[in-house]
Amino acid sequence: MKNTESILKNIQNLKKSASDEISNDSQKSDLEDWRIKYLGRNGELSSLMKIMKDISPDEKRVIGPKLNQLKNDLNHLFESFQLNNSQTQKYADNFDITLPGRNISHGTLHPTTLIIREICDAFRSMGFQIHEGNEIETEKYNFDLLNIPDDHPARDQWDTIWLDLTNNENNYLLRTHTSPMQARIMEKNNPPIRVVVPGKCYRYEATDATHEWEFHQIEGLAIDKNISFSELKGTLYQMARKIFGSDQQVRFRCDFFPFVEPGVDMSILWEGRWIEILGAGMVHPKVLTGVGYDPNEYSGFAFGIGPERVSMLKNKIKDIRNFHANDLRFLSQFVN
Ligand code: FA5
Repeated sequence: MKNTESILKNIQNLKKSASDEISNDSQKSDLEDWRIKYLGRNGELSSLMKIMKDISPDEKRVIGPKLNQLKNDLNHLFESFQLNNSQTQKYADNFDITLPGRNISHGTLHPTTLIIREICDAFRSMGFQIHEGNEIETEKYNFDLLNIPDDHPARDQWDTIWLDLTNNENNYLLRTHTSPMQARIMEKNNPPIRVVVPGKCYRYEATDATHEWEFHQIEGLAIDKNISFSELKGTLYQMARKIFGSDQQVRFRCDFFPFVEPGVDMSILWEGRWIEILGAGMVHPKVLTGVGYDPNEYSGFAFGIGPERVSMLKNKIKDIRNFHANDLRFLSQFVN
């Protein structure tokens, strides 16, 4: 009986010291120490529990329920302090439901993404599909298949960033325009084709207010039987009206690109001045032959738009370098 009494005393003492100690623990880390000390696998409670295997059945009947009670008490103690101590509880205690909520700031799409989507949507509404292409190109697709032979002076129009990746068959470069996708798409598809290809281009050139060395283009290609120049004009005119407004005037002038014949550039009348936004033309018969199309059967038009330039006009942006400067004061002005 003496033994039973001293065990019960131990149970009582353990409960007291555990609850005294936890009341003084304020930090989260203290609470965890407390849990390990009292409720841990080698803690005070389990070492007290070990006596159960050394006592008589009569003693077990008295001590067993007390030990179970102690275990429950300690667990409750721990849980309630854990809840009280948690930050959420502290926050909830001080929470004033009459205060307005804090605004969660969320990002916006990049202005280049916005204008690319807008331009692509304009073409989508005219039946064009959207396609993407690779930024690393071969000399063959960036130049040769576009009727720009090795030593042709027209190559100088596109100052090229070459890659250190030559193998026996190919020289690699960062595409200087999205036009290589014309050949890639024609090779893999049969007419009719109506597609626009947005993507990044790179040129080894000095930057200024209207030139970046890394910029975007949106290539367009339409191939079918009997496509005429008037369809080129009509399509691009319609795009300009969708982007700049229904009374937008446009101007086509002759321009030279080796992969089109005839070639043009298109300007829009903006604040009293004609501003060029794209190059275009009827796909050259040599380009069609190069991908295995019969130029007597198929014809088509192609164009290349600079979306940053379009955004500059639309949003009165004075310097193209803003697009990549990563300045939030600039970027946060564009809301989608
Ligand atoms: C071309 O790159 C031709 N591939 C376009 C083309 C496609 C013509 C299909 C005919 C048929 P160009 O170099 O002019 O052409 O560039 C086209 C547009 O890309 C320009 O009108 C301009 O809007 C944009 N652009 C060109 N260079 C830069 C640059 N350095 N920075 C920003 N935009 C540029």
